[in-house]
Amino acid sequence: MAHIDLKKLGKTFDNDVEVIKDLDLKIVNGEFLVLVGPSGCGKSTTLRLIAGLEEATAGEIYIGDKMVNNTPPKDRDISMVFQNYALYPHMTVYDNMAFGLKLRKYHKSEIKKLVEDTAEILELEKLLKRKPKQLSGGQRQRVALGRAIVRKPSVFLFDEPLSNLDAKLRVQMRTEIKKLHKTLKTTMVYVTHDQTEAMTMGDRIAVMKDGVIHQLDTPINVYNDPADKFVAGFIGSPAMNFLEGVIVDGHIVIEEGKYNLPIIEKHKELLKSSHNQKIIVGIRPEDISLSKESESSFEVNLQCDIVEPTGHEALIYLNTGKTEIICKTDKYDHSVMKKDDLTVYFDVNKVLYFDAENGKRIK
Ligand SMILES: Nc1ncnc2c1ncn2[C@@H]1O[C@H](COP(=O)(O)OP(=O)(O)O)[C@@H](O)[C@H]1O
Ligand SMILES: [Mg+2]
Repeated sequence: MAHIDLKKLGKTFDNDVEVIKDLDLKIVNGEFLVLVGPSGCGKSTTLRLIAGLEEATAGEIYIGDKMVNNTPPKDRDISMVFQNYALYPHMTVYDNMAFGLKLRKYHKSEIKKLVEDTAEILELEKLLKRKPKQLSGGQRQRVALGRAIVRKPSVFLFDEPLSNLDAKLRVQMRTEIKKLHKTLKTTMVYVTHDQTEAMTMGDRIAVMKDGVIHQLDTPINVYNDPADKFVAGFIGSPAMNFLEGVIVDGHIVIEEGKYNLPIIEKHKELLKSSHNQKIIVGIRPEDISLSKESESSFEVNLQCDIVEPTGHEALIYLNTGKTEIICKTDKYDHSVMKKDDLTVYFDVNKVLYFDAENGKRIK
């Protein structure tokens, strides 16, 4: 097992595009760390730098206590699992799993034991003689996992390993990988663009945009206490609602001028220096309800565009005339579907504030 330490890491490709900028990240020994962010933000590049598949143009990479910038990939004691499985099509499942061990000159009997033990963990025993094309997507991904864990490396790197699977299988494999981590207790770095995967799998998650980590914390802290507007909008589904407003005389005039949001006592201090300035108000869909649920509920009448029931809850798409606002509620009846206007309640105690210029949280 090993911890990973990235210090002022930078990567600029030949075309002078700086993809990773001054990135500092400490991954604790045995941790399941998820690196999450939109497509193109530099997640795979970061992972490939750790693996040694790309060369850093600035900074240092430590695996354990060893600086590995100049260590070739095969000597870094890591295993990587890719989105496209990257199995050898002409080899059986057994040979795919044994391949890395053969390369490293393990003894034949040892290879047999390691492959069989791994096959048991991943329930692949009955598939060992098959070729990849005789397997389903989920089975192939399990073989790719098997090939990664069979060597017992000190670090696992996963690059969107579940993206090619259908929704149901993805949820199932998510649990399997978490179980695997619980069993193996090996340091795992898991890259995904899917915030649900990040939230459900990570011990901690690093939220990345344009080669920069905006926040590194536990899923619940990232959700409840986002560092800025980007993180607040990226984590959570449906996304947080944002409204522009100006603070005037102790309340927030929402730009459309249709209503003023009150500022509760405990937030007044926070917003003192933002007086007469433009700010962004953020409220999560679940903090908007159809009935007055608390002292801090604030009534707003909005146009109702559409209602999407999903079974035990519904998403209600509302409109201020300028901004779409989503309400998520499990307390609804079918009469809401027929309404053009709705009275909803913002829980102003749960509202977050952001600087309109730089998106930083005002807190
Ligand atoms: N070999 C390369 N040469 C030039 N640009 C690259 C190369 N690899 C990746 N990039 C660019 O770096 C950025 C980050 O890519 P990547 O790390 O793959 O993002 P992600 O995995 O978050 O989707 C993208 O803009 C991509 O086009
Ligand atoms: Mg990628």
